[in-house]
Amino acid sequence: MDINKLKGRLAEYPQVELMWGRTPIVHAANISRELGIDLFIKRDDLTGLALGGNKTRKLEFLLGEARSKNCDTVITAGAVHSNHALQTAAAAQKLGMKPVLVLRGVAENKGNYFLDRLLGADIRVFDVEAGGELKNYMEEIQGEYIAGGKRPYLIPVGGSSPTGVLGYIKAVIEIMEQCKEMNLAFDYLVSATSSGGTQAGILLGCKAIAPGAKPLCIGVGDPREELLADVRLLVEETSSRLGLEGGVPTGGEIEEATIGGYGFGGYGTIVKEVVDLIRSVARKEGLYLDPVYTGKAFLGLMDLAKREIIPPGSRVLFLHTGGLGGLFQYEDMIGEMLP
Ligand SMILES: Cc1ncc(COP(=O)(O)O)c(C=O)c1O
Repeated sequence: MDINKLKGRLAEYPQVELMWGRTPIVHAANISRELGIDLFIKRDDLTGLALGGNKTRKLEFLLGEARSKNCDTVITAGAVHSNHALQTAAAAQKLGMKPVLVLRGVAENKGNYFLDRLLGADIRVFDVEAGGELKNYMEEIQGEYIAGGKRPYLIPVGGSSPTGVLGYIKAVIEIMEQCKEMNLAFDYLVSATSSGGTQAGILLGCKAIAPGAKPLCIGVGDPREELLADVRLLVEETSSRLGLEGGVPTGGEIEEATIGGYGFGGYGTIVKEVVDLIRSVARKEGLYLDPVYTGKAFLGLMDLAKREIIPPGSRVLFLHTGGLGGLFQYEDMIGEMLP
């Protein structure tokens, strides 16, 4: 598909501006040498909103839609360490909407939860295990706000709705434009995946305008079958909305792009292998990864390169999706794993 045609389709959707501008693509020279590949990093940890991260791109479309519907309150959900919740609260405040965060887990006054408090969000914490259980609480709280005369806009966990997915299709356009300027072409695009929205956007964007770049989306602990089901649905709903005739990833392509085996026992586990990798990458490249998403995904990338599933000499782009608040949310556990 022509890049300008895709740009035109996206421009039809309401958007707000939350990014500083384009995020840089930088070369990771030391790790490239170590792995025998040519590794670049797309710094979406530097989107500019609050601590940065992939959710900024989704929120440009999600809050664009909220605004077009005259909503004055934004309700979303996630774990207490949720980067998505923090980004949503920051964006909502900036745009004059009330942020309401429905969080799962046990609140401690640190990390992203602490930053959520600084942002003045209405935070409700429930000690439940599964993210799905938050849906009922969200609806209850939505009712409460409606009864109070407010117009709430609901964002699902991770901002992964067809509207949010548009943000990562737009990111692929940005990457392709940068590639043209830098005279680069990537064989692989590697990213963390969890609620599936970033992955769905990458798959749709690559299929439409970057067929030479193979997406490898590394699960960070959620059951692979659940992740696949979520991604399939998001791909289908988003592509039919955008009218991407023919340019839709097949079931086989979605399967191939969804990499399991690097979840270390489940979503949100903090493990020594990942902490060791975070230390090593910080020392080699002056770059921080987080323990919940990018650390696990980067470990997957390194393992795939060492096993030559990513062949030597490949040109690889790792999408740094942010999440650095996680280092502070879990600083005690991480600290105990340091030598
Ligand atoms: C830092 C970071 N990376 C990756 C992801 C995964 O993105 P998605 O939920 O779109 O799969 C998240 C989601 O919360 C995140 O916070």
